[in-house]
Amino acid sequence: MAHEVKPLKYKILPGFSEAQIGDHHGVLYAGYVKKLNEIEEKMKTTDVSQANGTYSEYGELRREEAFATNAIKLHEGYFDNMGGNGQPSGKLMKLIETDFGSFEQFEKYFKAAGIAARGWVVLCFNWDDHKLHIYSSDYHTQGVWNCTPILVLDVYEHAYFIDYKTQRKTYIEAFWKVVDWNYLNKLVEKLELTKHKNSL
Ligand SMILES: [Fe+2]
Repeated sequence: MAHEVKPLKYKILPGFSEAQIGDHHGVLYAGYVKKLNEIEEKMKTTDVSQANGTYSEYGELRREEAFATNAIKLHEGYFDNMGGNGQPSGKLMKLIETDFGSFEQFEKYFKAAGIAARGWVVLCFNWDDHKLHIYSSDYHTQGVWNCTPILVLDVYEHAYFIDYKTQRKTYIEAFWKVVDWNYLNKLVEKLELTKHKNSL
């Protein structure tokens, strides 16, 4: 079944213009969805007998399939975890306090990763050690295996340049003010992270 563009859950996002979020970032995300559908169609007819590590159509399709899939997943996580009041709360806050010592410590390291990364900063639950980790990546396919993204921050220039120009730090502060902790806590519930946390 073809992948579909998930609509934004908000019309207005304080601190962000419609041009930034919908007109440009949303269009970019929709482009990944379109391309993944195209890739999956071409995959059905590509000649796998010609697979080659230097260049082959099949090799490129496999490579770009991972790229587009991760781009979609990360963008959907990013758009979904905005639209709130930015007030940390609930089970996720408790898990963060356990794994990072304090919420302030986590906030400091997460925001600093946003300055240091070239693509994404993702708070993940790692199913190997059952702990939350901050992972950053410079492109869509630099994720860590066996981890589930929880809080996702896009720090590619396209995510903020229209509204914030080179002021990435100000963009991160604006993002922080609209993080939807209710949504994140529902995700924590759905994944039963508190239960899993205590099962190791
Ligand atoms: Fe993006």
